[in-house]
Amino acid sequence: MTPAAPIGVFDSGIGGLTVVAGLRRVLPREAILYLGDTARVPYGTKSSEVVRRYAHTCARFLLTEGAKMLVVACNTASAHALEFLRASFAVPVVGVIEPGAAMAARATRNNRIGVIGTEGTITSGSYQRALARLAPEATVIAKSCPLFVPLAEEGMVDHPATRLIATEYLAPFAAHEVDTVVLGCTHYPLLSPVLQQILGNSVELVDSASAVAIVVRDTLEANSLSAPRRAAEDRFFATDVSQRVLRVGRAFLGAELAAVNLVDL
Ligand code: DGL
Repeated sequence: MTPAAPIGVFDSGIGGLTVVAGLRRVLPREAILYLGDTARVPYGTKSSEVVRRYAHTCARFLLTEGAKMLVVACNTASAHALEFLRASFAVPVVGVIEPGAAMAARATRNNRIGVIGTEGTITSGSYQRALARLAPEATVIAKSCPLFVPLAEEGMVDHPATRLIATEYLAPFAAHEVDTVVLGCTHYPLLSPVLQQILGNSVELVDSASAVAIVVRDTLEANSLSAPRRAAEDRFFATDVSQRVLRVGRAFLGAELAAVNLVDL
Protein backbone atom coordinates (compact mmCIF):
# COMPACT_ATOMS: atom_id res chain seq x y z
CA MET A 1 0.00 0.00 0.00
CA THR A 2 1.73 3.18 -1.15
CA PRO A 3 0.48 6.79 -1.54
CA ALA A 4 1.03 6.52 -5.30
CA ALA A 5 -1.49 3.64 -5.56
CA PRO A 6 -5.00 4.37 -6.87
CA ILE A 7 -8.23 4.74 -4.89
CA GLY A 8 -10.55 1.79 -5.57
CA VAL A 9 -14.19 2.75 -6.14
CA PHE A 10 -17.00 0.33 -6.84
CA ASP A 11 -20.71 0.46 -7.49
CA SER A 12 -23.40 -1.96 -8.57
CA GLY A 13 -23.13 -0.33 -12.00
CA ILE A 14 -22.24 2.96 -13.57
CA GLY A 15 -24.14 5.28 -11.21
CA GLY A 16 -21.08 5.39 -8.97
CA LEU A 17 -19.42 7.57 -11.58
CA THR A 18 -21.24 10.49 -9.91
CA VAL A 19 -19.01 9.76 -6.91
CA VAL A 20 -15.94 9.58 -9.18
CA ALA A 21 -16.84 13.04 -10.50
CA GLY A 22 -16.88 14.30 -6.89
CA LEU A 23 -13.50 12.67 -6.15
CA ARG A 24 -11.97 14.24 -9.25
CA ARG A 25 -13.14 17.68 -8.15
CA VAL A 26 -11.75 17.42 -4.62
CA LEU A 27 -8.72 15.16 -5.19
CA PRO A 28 -7.31 15.90 -8.66
CA ARG A 29 -3.96 14.26 -7.85
CA GLU A 30 -5.49 10.89 -6.99
CA ALA A 31 -5.76 8.13 -9.61
CA ILE A 32 -9.00 6.16 -9.53
CA LEU A 33 -9.66 2.52 -10.23
CA TYR A 34 -13.39 2.09 -10.84
CA LEU A 35 -15.37 -1.13 -10.98
CA GLY A 36 -19.03 -1.22 -12.02
CA ASP A 37 -20.74 -4.55 -11.42
CA THR A 38 -22.89 -4.00 -14.51
CA ALA A 39 -23.54 -7.72 -15.03
CA ARG A 40 -25.29 -7.99 -11.65
CA VAL A 41 -26.92 -4.54 -11.32
CA PRO A 42 -29.32 -3.66 -9.69
CA TYR A 43 -28.33 -4.29 -6.09
CA GLY A 44 -31.24 -2.18 -4.82
CA THR A 45 -33.77 -4.99 -5.14
CA LYS A 46 -31.54 -7.80 -3.80
CA SER A 47 -31.21 -9.33 -0.34
CA SER A 48 -28.66 -8.19 2.17
CA GLU A 49 -26.75 -11.51 1.96
CA VAL A 50 -26.40 -11.36 -1.81
CA VAL A 51 -25.33 -7.69 -1.83
CA ARG A 52 -22.70 -8.47 0.82
CA ARG A 53 -21.32 -11.33 -1.26
CA TYR A 54 -21.20 -9.22 -4.45
CA ALA A 55 -19.60 -6.29 -2.62
CA HIS A 56 -16.91 -8.58 -1.22
CA THR A 57 -16.03 -9.82 -4.73
CA CYS A 58 -15.84 -6.24 -6.06
CA ALA A 59 -13.62 -5.14 -3.17
CA ARG A 60 -11.29 -8.12 -3.61
CA PHE A 61 -10.89 -7.35 -7.31
CA LEU A 62 -9.93 -3.71 -6.65
CA LEU A 63 -7.42 -4.71 -3.99
CA THR A 64 -5.88 -7.29 -6.31
CA GLU A 65 -5.47 -4.47 -8.85
CA GLY A 66 -3.54 -2.48 -6.25
CA ALA A 67 -6.07 -0.09 -4.64
CA LYS A 68 -4.78 1.63 -1.47
CA MET A 69 -8.27 2.21 -0.07
CA LEU A 70 -11.88 1.47 -1.00
CA VAL A 71 -14.83 3.74 -1.63
CA VAL A 72 -18.19 2.01 -1.69
CA ALA A 73 -19.97 4.41 -4.07
CA CYS A 74 -23.18 2.35 -4.05
CA ASN A 75 -25.65 3.34 -1.34
CA THR A 76 -27.19 -0.12 -1.28
CA ALA A 77 -23.80 -1.82 -0.88
CA SER A 78 -22.82 0.75 1.78
CA ALA A 79 -26.09 0.00 3.60
CA HIS A 80 -25.62 -3.78 3.61
CA ALA A 81 -21.90 -4.43 3.43
CA LEU A 82 -19.78 -1.58 4.85
CA GLU A 83 -19.01 -3.15 8.22
CA PHE A 84 -18.47 -6.54 6.62
CA LEU A 85 -15.92 -5.07 4.19
CA ARG A 86 -14.15 -3.19 6.99
CA ALA A 87 -13.89 -6.43 8.94
CA SER A 88 -12.68 -8.34 5.86
CA PHE A 89 -9.92 -6.10 4.51
CA ALA A 90 -7.03 -4.19 6.05
CA VAL A 91 -7.35 -1.02 3.92
CA PRO A 92 -9.53 1.98 4.87
CA VAL A 93 -13.11 1.61 3.56
CA VAL A 94 -15.37 4.66 3.09
CA GLY A 95 -19.08 4.35 2.36
CA VAL A 96 -21.57 6.98 1.21
CA ILE A 97 -24.18 6.80 3.96
CA GLU A 98 -22.37 8.37 6.89
CA PRO A 99 -21.06 11.38 4.86
CA GLY A 100 -24.53 11.97 3.37
CA ALA A 101 -26.24 11.72 6.76
CA ALA A 102 -23.68 14.08 8.33
CA MET A 103 -24.25 16.61 5.56
CA ALA A 104 -28.03 16.43 6.10
CA ALA A 105 -27.61 16.81 9.86
CA ARG A 106 -25.65 20.03 9.22
CA ALA A 107 -28.08 21.31 6.59
CA THR A 108 -31.43 20.95 8.35
CA ARG A 109 -32.85 24.01 10.11
CA ASN A 110 -36.19 22.59 11.24
CA ASN A 111 -34.97 19.04 12.12
CA ARG A 112 -37.17 17.36 9.54
CA ILE A 113 -35.12 15.30 7.14
CA GLY A 114 -36.25 13.20 4.18
CA VAL A 115 -34.23 10.32 2.74
CA ILE A 116 -34.80 8.66 -0.63
CA GLY A 117 -33.05 5.54 -1.90
CA THR A 118 -33.49 2.05 -3.29
CA GLU A 119 -35.73 -0.42 -1.53
CA GLY A 120 -32.66 -2.19 -0.10
CA THR A 121 -31.15 1.02 1.26
CA ILE A 122 -34.37 2.25 2.85
CA THR A 123 -35.44 -1.06 4.38
CA SER A 124 -31.94 -1.63 5.79
CA GLY A 125 -32.53 1.42 8.04
CA SER A 126 -28.90 2.52 7.59
CA TYR A 127 -29.64 6.20 6.92
CA GLN A 128 -32.24 6.24 9.68
CA ARG A 129 -29.68 4.85 12.18
CA ALA A 130 -26.93 7.23 11.04
CA LEU A 131 -29.29 10.21 11.36
CA ALA A 132 -30.52 9.07 14.78
CA ARG A 133 -26.89 9.30 15.89
CA LEU A 134 -25.90 12.48 14.04
CA ALA A 135 -29.15 14.42 14.41
CA PRO A 136 -30.91 12.88 17.43
CA GLU A 137 -33.53 15.65 17.52
CA ALA A 138 -34.55 15.15 13.91
CA THR A 139 -37.65 13.45 12.56
CA VAL A 140 -36.63 11.30 9.58
CA ILE A 141 -39.01 10.33 6.81
CA ALA A 142 -37.57 7.69 4.48
CA LYS A 143 -39.05 6.64 1.15
CA SER A 144 -37.83 4.16 -1.43
CA CYS A 145 -38.14 5.38 -5.03
CA PRO A 146 -37.43 2.29 -7.14
CA LEU A 147 -38.46 3.79 -10.47
CA PHE A 148 -35.90 6.62 -10.26
CA VAL A 149 -32.97 4.36 -11.23
CA PRO A 150 -34.37 3.29 -14.64
CA LEU A 151 -35.67 6.82 -15.31
CA ALA A 152 -32.22 8.31 -14.69
CA GLU A 153 -30.55 5.63 -16.82
CA GLU A 154 -32.97 6.31 -19.66
CA GLY A 155 -31.99 9.96 -19.53
CA MET A 156 -35.61 10.89 -18.71
CA VAL A 157 -34.41 13.59 -16.37
CA ASP A 158 -36.84 16.21 -17.60
CA HIS A 159 -39.85 14.19 -18.68
CA PRO A 160 -43.54 14.40 -17.70
CA ALA A 161 -43.49 10.72 -16.62
CA THR A 162 -40.61 11.41 -14.23
CA ARG A 163 -42.41 14.46 -12.85
CA LEU A 164 -45.56 12.42 -12.27
CA ILE A 165 -43.76 9.57 -10.51
CA ALA A 166 -41.63 11.97 -8.47
CA THR A 167 -44.72 13.90 -7.36
CA GLU A 168 -46.20 10.65 -6.06
CA TYR A 169 -43.00 9.51 -4.29
CA LEU A 170 -42.25 12.89 -2.73
CA ALA A 171 -45.73 13.65 -1.40
CA PRO A 172 -44.91 12.54 2.20
CA PHE A 173 -42.10 15.09 2.39
CA ALA A 174 -44.36 18.07 1.78
CA ALA A 175 -46.86 16.66 4.31
CA HIS A 176 -44.09 16.44 6.95
CA GLU A 177 -42.57 19.80 5.97
CA VAL A 178 -39.03 18.45 5.59
CA ASP A 179 -36.44 21.10 4.74
CA THR A 180 -33.67 18.68 3.71
CA VAL A 181 -33.78 15.59 1.49
CA VAL A 182 -30.85 13.17 1.16
CA LEU A 183 -30.35 11.77 -2.35
CA GLY A 184 -29.47 8.31 -1.04
CA CYS A 185 -28.72 6.65 -4.35
CA THR A 186 -26.00 7.07 -6.98
CA HIS A 187 -28.56 7.86 -9.67
CA TYR A 188 -30.61 10.56 -8.00
CA PRO A 189 -28.29 13.55 -8.49
CA LEU A 190 -29.19 13.37 -12.19
CA LEU A 191 -32.82 13.95 -11.26
CA SER A 192 -32.03 16.91 -8.97
CA PRO A 193 -33.64 19.61 -11.15
CA VAL A 194 -37.03 17.87 -11.28
CA LEU A 195 -36.88 16.86 -7.60
CA GLN A 196 -36.03 20.44 -6.63
CA GLN A 197 -38.91 21.74 -8.72
CA ILE A 198 -41.37 19.44 -6.99
CA LEU A 199 -40.04 19.93 -3.46
CA GLY A 200 -39.60 23.69 -3.84
CA ASN A 201 -36.50 25.84 -3.56
CA SER A 202 -36.64 26.04 0.21
CA VAL A 203 -35.79 22.33 0.46
CA GLU A 204 -32.08 21.50 0.42
CA LEU A 205 -31.10 18.43 -1.63
CA VAL A 206 -28.11 16.61 -0.19
CA ASP A 207 -25.90 15.00 -2.82
CA SER A 208 -23.32 13.10 -0.80
CA ALA A 209 -20.72 12.88 -3.62
CA SER A 210 -18.78 15.96 -2.49
CA ALA A 211 -19.17 15.01 1.20
CA VAL A 212 -17.76 11.55 0.38
CA ALA A 213 -14.78 13.11 -1.39
CA ILE A 214 -13.96 15.19 1.70
CA VAL A 215 -14.13 12.09 3.93
CA VAL A 216 -11.86 10.25 1.46
CA ARG A 217 -9.38 13.16 1.55
CA ASP A 218 -9.36 13.15 5.37
CA THR A 219 -8.99 9.35 5.45
CA LEU A 220 -6.01 9.45 3.07
CA GLU A 221 -4.37 12.16 5.15
CA ALA A 222 -4.97 10.32 8.42
CA ASN A 223 -3.35 7.19 6.95
CA SER A 224 -0.47 9.03 5.22
CA LEU A 225 -1.76 7.78 1.89
CA SER A 226 -2.35 11.04 -0.06
CA ALA A 227 -0.76 10.91 -3.51
CA PRO A 228 2.08 13.46 -3.77
CA ARG A 229 1.47 13.88 -7.50
CA ARG A 230 -0.67 12.39 -10.23
CA ALA A 231 0.93 8.98 -10.80
CA ALA A 232 -1.42 7.29 -13.27
CA GLU A 233 -4.55 7.71 -15.35
CA ASP A 234 -7.95 6.61 -14.02
CA ARG A 235 -8.90 3.07 -15.07
CA PHE A 236 -12.42 1.73 -15.51
CA PHE A 237 -13.63 -1.85 -15.25
CA ALA A 238 -17.08 -3.38 -15.58
CA THR A 239 -18.49 -6.89 -15.41
CA ASP A 240 -20.49 -6.22 -18.59
CA VAL A 241 -19.59 -3.61 -21.18
CA SER A 242 -22.41 -2.70 -23.54
CA GLN A 243 -23.13 0.37 -25.63
CA ARG A 244 -25.66 1.29 -22.95
CA VAL A 245 -23.02 1.17 -20.21
CA LEU A 246 -20.79 3.54 -22.20
CA ARG A 247 -23.65 5.90 -23.09
CA VAL A 248 -25.10 6.10 -19.59
CA GLY A 249 -21.59 6.19 -18.08
CA ARG A 250 -20.77 9.41 -19.91
CA ALA A 251 -23.93 11.04 -18.54
CA PHE A 252 -23.10 10.00 -14.96
CA LEU A 253 -19.45 11.00 -15.12
CA GLY A 254 -20.27 14.28 -16.83
CA ALA A 255 -17.17 13.73 -18.98
CA GLU A 256 -15.82 11.46 -21.67
CA LEU A 257 -15.42 7.92 -20.35
CA ALA A 258 -12.02 6.33 -21.11
CA ALA A 259 -11.87 2.69 -22.21
CA VAL A 260 -13.91 0.38 -20.00
CA ASN A 261 -12.26 -3.00 -19.48
CA LEU A 262 -14.41 -6.09 -19.16
CA VAL A 263 -13.70 -8.28 -16.12
CA ASP A 264 -15.09 -11.58 -14.95
CA LEU A 265 -15.22 -11.68 -11.19
N1 DGL B 1 -26.03 2.06 -7.01
C1 DGL B 1 -27.30 1.81 -6.40
C2 DGL B 1 -27.41 2.67 -5.12
O1 DGL B 1 -26.76 3.70 -4.98
C3 DGL B 1 -28.46 2.08 -7.33
C4 DGL B 1 -28.60 1.06 -8.45
C5 DGL B 1 -28.88 -0.33 -7.94
O2 DGL B 1 -30.00 -0.62 -7.48
O3 DGL B 1 -27.96 -1.15 -7.98
O4 DGL B 1 -28.16 2.32 -4.25
